[in-house]
Amino acid sequence: MTLPLEQQFLQLSQLLQNHQAYWRLTPFTCSELPWQDANLQQVLTDLSDQDLDLIDQSSQLQQQYFSLVFPELFNLPNIIATNQPNTLPALPFWLTNGVNGRKLGQIEAFCQHWPNSSLPIVEWCAGKGHLGRMLAYRFAQPVISLEWQQNLCQQGQELAQQFELPQHFIQADVLAPSLPAILQPEQHLVALHACGQLHISMLQQAIQAGSSSIHLVPCCYHLIDDAEYQPLSALAQQHNLQLDQQQLKLIVQGQVTAGARVERLRHTEIHWRLAYELLRQYYVKDTEYRTLKSVSKQLFSGDFSNFANWAAQQHQWTLPTNIDWPYFLNMAAKRQQLIKRIELVRHLFRRPLELWLLLDKMLYLQQHGYKVNAHEFCDFRLSPRNLLLTAIKT
Ligand SMILES: C[S@@+](CC[C@H](N)C(=O)[O-])C[C@H]1O[C@@H](n2cnc3c(N)ncnc32)[C@H](O)[C@@H]1O
Repeated sequence: MTLPLEQQFLQLSQLLQNHQAYWRLTPFTCSELPWQDANLQQVLTDLSDQDLDLIDQSSQLQQQYFSLVFPELFNLPNIIATNQPNTLPALPFWLTNGVNGRKLGQIEAFCQHWPNSSLPIVEWCAGKGHLGRMLAYRFAQPVISLEWQQNLCQQGQELAQQFELPQHFIQADVLAPSLPAILQPEQHLVALHACGQLHISMLQQAIQAGSSSIHLVPCCYHLIDDAEYQPLSALAQQHNLQLDQQQLKLIVQGQVTAGARVERLRHTEIHWRLAYELLRQYYVKDTEYRTLKSVSKQLFSGDFSNFANWAAQQHQWTLPTNIDWPYFLNMAAKRQQLIKRIELVRHLFRRPLELWLLLDKMLYLQQHGYKVNAHEFCDFRLSPRNLLLTAIKT
């Protein structure tokens, strides 16, 4: 039996509150495992570095290694509805030309969850409007694609004209107050991978306009205007987890399907940032962790001493001339192994946090007279941002 959304939300909220010590922390500042639990310490020390990477990317392995330590985490309410995707005829090759394979796979999966609807479509943050174009072709509905970049609007409009599809681009800032003129009740609003503030604004404006139908795939939850996530539903406002941008970023962390070179650079970046922080604490005699702003990845394909000089400049001090670089790099490599173990545990909470945000949005829509549902619309490997929220005004 499926529990009402309110109950599912409360259960999930409680679990996240009770386990805050495992996800609401900054691993970079830890010099030892921050948890006393002997079982957890044992599991983490027994793991090789290779195991860590494999477990981090596999929900089955996470369950295998951690279900005894965190039984409730693997017994979450089942928010995701299981419905069979529709089988659709293949798209003609000329329509999909130039669309990246992964994006096309996501769009196709999205279309397989399209309802029997005859409403005109509004595509939110459309980019070149690939999704809108496929929807216009497949379901023969007019599409308005909203996008703020002029060149993307132009390229998208040219493609629609070339294929004689009823897709019309409007260059617009979806966060601007003049948008309601475009939104009408008899519309179906769609967004694929609209970032934090953009998808929040979509739901708020849809409710204001009384939009009939919504299909939303959210992403980049941390890209919001406020320092902290502002819950939308009354229930989440009462049980606010007070997620800051760093905690929101955890949800999308470590799931980018990067190439080997990007992965190597990312590893070097973490290693060098740690080595610099260790030498800063040693020479400046300051044990308080200090953040460093992000910087071009190019700096991490050079020499560690160049990076350390840049970082010291940022923190307004001068490096001594006789630094034992290998000493600090070795210490940082050991620290990195520790941090990877802490991150592995934090990462177990990515999906529960993502579901908490999803439930907040579902409750918010329900509160405003929508019938809501959620699906995993595509395989996790095609996109880890694979939650599709659907809503119909009742
Ligand atoms: C992550 S992309 C997603 C594009 C497309 N939906 C897809 O899945 O390929 C987000 C798009 O939102 C657009 N965008 C960002 N801020 C916007 C705003 N305030 N108003 C309208 N579009 C915006 C960006 O230019 C970009 O094309």
